[in-house]
Amino acid sequence: MKKKGFFICVEGLDGCGKTTQARLLVRKLKENYAAVYTAEPSNGKVGRFIKKYCLHNKKRLSSVVESLLFAADRFEHVENVILPAVKRGKLVISDRYLYSSLAYQGATGLNLEWIQKLNEHALHPDLAIFIDVDPEIVIGRLKRKKSVMENLKTQRKVREVYVRFVENGELVNVDGNKSKKEVADEIMTVVLGFLEKAC
Ligand SMILES: Nc1ncnc2c1ncn2[C@@H]1O[C@H](COP(=O)(O)OP(=O)(O)O)[C@@H](O)[C@H]1O
Ligand SMILES: [Mg+2]
Repeated sequence: MKKKGFFICVEGLDGCGKTTQARLLVRKLKENYAAVYTAEPSNGKVGRFIKKYCLHNKKRLSSVVESLLFAADRFEHVENVILPAVKRGKLVISDRYLYSSLAYQGATGLNLEWIQKLNEHALHPDLAIFIDVDPEIVIGRLKRKKSVMENLKTQRKVREVYVRFVENGELVNVDGNKSKKEVADEIMTVVLGFLEKAC
């Protein structure tokens, strides 16, 4: 079946505002488009396993195992949620996607090409947005329980990998240090610009 909709992902450090902005974006887009929100880890079997056993353990799993699990979850997420919706003409907004694997597992020193290879079956996003917030600021914003992947040193390394993908043009950078409203407006401008060109 031919693809009809679009797939957009929102990326960035924990606490940068992905969930806030992805939900706001879907709400606003719904005025004119059939937009749907989804997130990774997904609600599939592997995604639920990750949320239950990996994110809040005292000790972090090996980055190889994390990469395999996230890639497996992504495969299910694409097959069961993203692709069917895109094929029905929806505008799918995912709160985290492939670049989270590259940034978080890549930040541990794993080879980025290997992570990319693992994810070669994952649908390529039509637009990937990086909400860039200073690592010091996101740590302050995270009032909820921190996951094992969140501390200042790690966040700095994770940001470095994201920035590489901004520099090579795969991710569109949005300044996330501004107010929620300003960030939302900037994201909306990027998305509408993309849709105008693509439609
Ligand atoms: N632009 C912003 N300025 C200040 N606080 C923000 C901003 N965006 C989000 N927040 C707050 O930061 C926290 C983390 O936001 P959240 O959307 O859950 O981030 P993420 O999903 O990226 O982890 C929340 O308490 C949220 O209200
Ligand atoms: Mg979130």
